[in-house]
Amino acid sequence: MASHDRFRIVGGTSLRGEVSVTGAKNSVLKLMAASLLATGTSTICNVPDIADVDIMADLLTRLGCTVNRGADTVTITVPQEPTHRADYDLVRKMRASINVLGPLVARVGQADVALPGGDAIGSRGLDFHIKGLEALGAKAHIEHGYVIAEAPNGLIGAPVELDFPSVGATENIMTAAVLAKGVTTIENAAREPDIVDLGEFLISMGAKIEGLGSPLITITGVEVMHSTDHTTITDRIITGTWAFAAAMTRGDITIHGARPEHLELPLEKLASAGAIITSTADGIRVKMDVRPQAIDVATLPYPGFPTDLLPMVIALNAVADGHSLVTENVFESRFMFVNELSRLGAQISVDGHHASITGVEELSGAPVEAHDIRAGAGLILAALVAEGETTVDQGFHVDRGYPNFAEQLQSLGAQVTRE
Ligand code: UD1
Repeated sequence: MASHDRFRIVGGTSLRGEVSVTGAKNSVLKLMAASLLATGTSTICNVPDIADVDIMADLLTRLGCTVNRGADTVTITVPQEPTHRADYDLVRKMRASINVLGPLVARVGQADVALPGGDAIGSRGLDFHIKGLEALGAKAHIEHGYVIAEAPNGLIGAPVELDFPSVGATENIMTAAVLAKGVTTIENAAREPDIVDLGEFLISMGAKIEGLGSPLITITGVEVMHSTDHTTITDRIITGTWAFAAAMTRGDITIHGARPEHLELPLEKLASAGAIITSTADGIRVKMDVRPQAIDVATLPYPGFPTDLLPMVIALNAVADGHSLVTENVFESRFMFVNELSRLGAQISVDGHHASITGVEELSGAPVEAHDIRAGAGLILAALVAEGETTVDQGFHVDRGYPNFAEQLQSLGAQVTRE
């Protein structure tokens, strides 16, 4: 099984050249789910060629929609009455499946959504999603592995306060509230660019939303939404991955499509590690000539340092000059990746949600395994600077988030094959 699904990397080349970053996975999947809110055909542009888009397309098809993929577009035709059951066999493959919950309750008054799977990075509860829908008048509970939410007479706007600025909960509450009667406020809302993109998509469908990108989002319900066309924002995590790859391999990568304003803190951290970052006409260029300096990082909700770039920071620190402390504040099990990185000779000790890292001069290639998308990417970056050959098994995780990763790495000079 896993032995047929791996990246094989021979380390030692500096990555040099140009890459283009496509639309953000964590945005496009939510836009696809939100298209359920209106009858008719919505078109989403700048869609990445990744497996998760196919899974969301299958899920929407199962709910009664017709979905067509173009080169970098997806067209979704939503019927008058979508069905309301999102089955386990699809939902278990991808966390973002839970994003059909809000739109279905709002639109058809019922949603039965299997408890989602996705990356093994922590417990990932749904209590905030459920409490939020209940505040809007839905009856919601978990039964036989499904979240069952009902609002046969429609939802009613209400104040909602999140205990933590959860991305998924903010999205589900927002996509439910757009069709509720009256005003909903979400306090301590997530501020990620993905939330702003989804909010703008909803506004283009006729929703009334204020405060996007701030901790207080106000939604005034409307009676109906209409289908729309929208272009997804570029993927800030892929951009960040290329920036770290350039720095770690002492390379020089021009990243077309990069939005530096979505990555302020990671780029500041890279600069303090020694990278030279400049703006280009349509993105950024990241260049590094020296061994990176170790950097201390603590992940936090946006605009804090993104948890999805944690494996890349640890990989960089593993070969950096000096000692660093990296703290994970969002998902408790991200550090599973550290055991794999240690196989390459990284010197890391983990205590609770802190990782203490002593940079080594050189890593040495070894067989390792990816447990989630970002861990896989972090291991591949480490392999690029390891002496000799590394195999990263369970490569399908990486494919879920990085379109044509091996080809793009090859075009930058890396010795990589996808088996
Ligand atoms: C999304 C992203 C993921 C990213 C994360 C944080 C997608 C598909 N995934 O995940 O890549 O790492 O945002 O930026 O967009 N929590 C609860 N109860 C809830 C909801 C969340 O306890 O009801 C906890 C989670 O267990 C976690 C934290 O809140 O510890 C943050 O989770 P959340 O922001 O909801 O992340 P996701 O939307 O799942």
